[in-house]
Amino acid sequence: MARNQKDYFYDLAQKEGYRSRASYKLKQIQQHSNIIKRGDTIVDLGAAPGGWLQVAKELSGGRVMGVDLQKISEIPGVTTFKGDITADSTIEKILEFAGKGGVDVVLCDAAPNLTGNWALDHARGIELNRAAFECAKKILKPKGTFVVKVFQGDMFKEFFDDVKSEFVHVKAYTPQASRSTSAEIYIIAKKFLTAPIRKGQIYAAEIKELGASGDGIAHIDDFVIFVKEVEVGDIVNIKIKDVKPNFGFAAVVEKLDALPENPRYENPVQQRTQTPLSADFEKDEETRPKGNTARDNYRPPKENEHEEE
Ligand SMILES: C[S@@+](CC[C@H](N)C(=O)[O-])C[C@H]1O[C@@H](n2cnc3c(N)ncnc32)[C@H](O)[C@@H]1O
Repeated sequence: MARNQKDYFYDLAQKEGYRSRASYKLKQIQQHSNIIKRGDTIVDLGAAPGGWLQVAKELSGGRVMGVDLQKISEIPGVTTFKGDITADSTIEKILEFAGKGGVDVVLCDAAPNLTGNWALDHARGIELNRAAFECAKKILKPKGTFVVKVFQGDMFKEFFDDVKSEFVHVKAYTPQASRSTSAEIYIIAKKFLTAPIRKGQIYAAEIKELGASGDGIAHIDDFVIFVKEVEVGDIVNIKIKDVKPNFGFAAVVEKLDALPENPRYENPVQQRTQTPLSADFEKDEETRPKGNTARDNYRPPKENEHEEE
């Protein structure tokens, strides 16, 4: 008997009319993080055969589009086309779909053809992840959501931190429907930031007024930043501690005599946040084999395994 025929979620998908067992991963992500709301516009990158598209359409009822290297057979009310998400021509078509208003949710369950070579599969996966991330940054509405599948490995942390710098809430989550032998994990990023500042960056700013709580208020490109322990009129270098969609928090690094002339504030210093990763991880522990890591369990996949997912 083929491996998949013994699989609970494969059988369930057959029974319930979903095109892939992966449908249940999206359902579990939805249950865990409530990523899709009624009426949302959704783009799904690497969407064939269409299991996520079916679930996304059911949940939102809004405009849904899927793209894949493979042809996706028709799903009522869903726009699909064949394309490579790393190609500019594909991104142009997606931008057309998103229009000026943008989209609420970008999903990416894309997977490269797995070779069984851990490092190579990871690197090719990260390339797809970065293409999806760049696309999401172009088309997401402010406060939009991005969900992406990543194969774990050395480059995971850097990618995770890059996603963290663009969204308010970011978590890594493994749904129960992921095979216990799989190295995959989903990054769930909510509230896309359109603020002109980023956590960890340093700016020069003048404190113009005090807020109700007594914190100083500075503006960077009209964006409000609350700064502790300052007086009105202080000119300071501040380090951004936290960014919310409509305001940020910062601490004073040093006092200045005057604002730098041009540009108005110093070039931001890029400092990626180094939050311990463990704090951001969640797994359906009850259903996972204890004491095993995905890497311990890694086995060479069968050819085109991703098509069965
Ligand atoms: C695991 S499957 C997606 C399953 C899908 N979420 C579902 O529920 O049916 C991964 C898909 O990523 C697609 N893919 C891989 N590289 C791609 C690329 N560069 N551009 C577009 N799709 C890609 C593959 O063709 C494959 O169909």
